[in-house]
Amino acid sequence: SKRLTIGLFGFGVVGQGLYDIISTKDLNIEIRKIAIKNPDKKRSLPDELFTTDANVILNDPEINTIIELINDADAAYEIVTRALKSGKNVVSANKKMIAEHLDELVELQEKYGTSLLYEGSVCGSIPIIRNLEEYYDNELLHSISGIFNGSSNFILSKIANEGLEYADALKQAQDLGFAEKDPILDVGGYDPKYKLVIAAAHAYGLFVRPEEVLNIGIQNFSNADLQFAQEHQLKIKLVPTAKKLNDKELAMYVIPKLVPKSDFLYNVENEYNAVSVKAAFADQQLFYGKGAGGHPTGSAVLSDVAALRYDYRYEYKKFNHDSKLKLQNDHVIPV
Ligand code: HSE
Repeated sequence: SKRLTIGLFGFGVVGQGLYDIISTKDLNIEIRKIAIKNPDKKRSLPDELFTTDANVILNDPEINTIIELINDADAAYEIVTRALKSGKNVVSANKKMIAEHLDELVELQEKYGTSLLYEGSVCGSIPIIRNLEEYYDNELLHSISGIFNGSSNFILSKIANEGLEYADALKQAQDLGFAEKDPILDVGGYDPKYKLVIAAAHAYGLFVRPEEVLNIGIQNFSNADLQFAQEHQLKIKLVPTAKKLNDKELAMYVIPKLVPKSDFLYNVENEYNAVSVKAAFADQQLFYGKGAGGHPTGSAVLSDVAALRYDYRYEYKKFNHDSKLKLQNDHVIPV
């Protein structure tokens, strides 16, 4: 099959996770160069593999595929748009960058005949984008909700189950490589909001800008709040929701919820994520898996790389062209 020659941007938790996975298999994939920010960090691979100059990768005609796994969403946007315009296919896991530019990026790939895939950007290892885009009829799809942020779920679990202090739980999430560089993105509910925006676009064909969606995080909870929940056999979970109010209106929000034992989300702990999909005839369906970490996210990135071999392209409007939905967040009572 088509040989993929890759220029990788970023060698952090996910970049290294992906590299490990690719090295374990003979996939006919060659990582030719890795762009990094800090050349002084100690790396496990030979120096010749690394560069600090994006042009070395973007101008290399031998490289046909870019994998973008850096932290900075604005720099990622520059890299991804340049790559798509120069005829290279791109895989990215940058939810903030994608949620902020989805419509434009989709147009770019169409215009230049390239492909941008980002399964790894939403809920780590859970294969949710292609499922939402292709499997469900948006007219029959009532809601998508769940746990989309591994770090905040990890923190809530550690406090509730092991009595950890908030700061210590956050530190552990950072040490394990789950948290964003600025952890307010996680605990403030921004990261799950970006993921919700991407998921909803693929589910309903409606791209809603992140700034139109309310997000309330978990950063202000005290151990007393979690104790209160526990005393009542409840758990606090940070839950993003996209929900149809009627045939024309979709509400979207990210809020902490008190979840009872009877709810599937009650048992979703630590860095695990879950997506609950409710549809008219299928009823409720659940996806469950690791939502953060190098290997789980790397596996989703690899699934996109593999999909490029058969020229796969996400087009969130393609299967949802008849979507009549509009965002309606004016009088959402988050329940
Ligand atoms: N910071 C994210 C999380 C990483 O905790 O879920 C995966 O997107």
